[in-house]
Amino acid sequence: MLICKKIKKRFLDGDSEINILNNIDLQVSSGESVAIIGASGSGKSTLLHVISGLEKASSGEIILNNAPLLSLSENDLCKLRLENIGFIYQFHHLIKELSVYENISLPLLIANKNNNNIIKITNEIIEQVGLKHRSNFQIDKLSGGERQRVAIARSIIHKPKIIFADEPTGNLDKKNAKNIFSLLTDLANFNNSSLIVATHDIDMSSMLDKSLRIKNGSLEEL
Ligand SMILES: Nc1ncnc2c1ncn2[C@@H]1O[C@H](COP(=O)(O)OP(=O)(O)O)[C@@H](O)[C@H]1O
Ligand SMILES: [Mg+2]
Repeated sequence: MLICKKIKKRFLDGDSEINILNNIDLQVSSGESVAIIGASGSGKSTLLHVISGLEKASSGEIILNNAPLLSLSENDLCKLRLENIGFIYQFHHLIKELSVYENISLPLLIANKNNNNIIKITNEIIEQVGLKHRSNFQIDKLSGGERQRVAIARSIIHKPKIIFADEPTGNLDKKNAKNIFSLLTDLANFNNSSLIVATHDIDMSSMLDKSLRIKNGSLEEL
């Protein structure tokens, strides 16, 4: 379902090029969960951005849901991402002026879903992430853990085939981190979505099917 072959990503640093990703091969099947572990600066975010189509690879091949990501038009790429991908950022990127309900329903509004469906699905997912009592709260009135629940709900509301999470628990205390991580894996399982999580927390990675380490631009299985 996600196949990456010989992916390279180079950045220019002044006049010299640095290879952040160097011939990365990766395959993730439907419903499989994978942890990408690595030190800060090792390229975890870059890898997630490239394989989810947020950033272009310098070279290589990425097949997501049978579509060749690197040769799609900008329009087709947006459509593919909107329908098939959920992305959870480390700093959640929620719209703080909007309520919990409004933030979570946003992907369905953008996808032009029917209004009654939006209400029903949004309320269901708010219940699933345990935020019913916070539905009308503005984002800046929430705790860190609650905000990450909103980000998770928003990323999976369209039941994406694949969810990317970039250090989703990086800013939470241990107990909250474990709860949020369990919630994320439970919901991914529930929807049979694949899950790719960047983390530097080995405890968290052990909750997933497979762990890979990124080091010097390459991936190795743990
Ligand atoms: N747009 C960019 N231009 C130049 N260098 C970048 C850019 N984005 C990331 N890098 C560099 O790539 C390396 C990997 O960064 P990143 O993927 O954010 O690592 P991680 O998420 O593992 O901490 C870092 O050295 C970072 O400075
Ligand atoms: Mg990062």
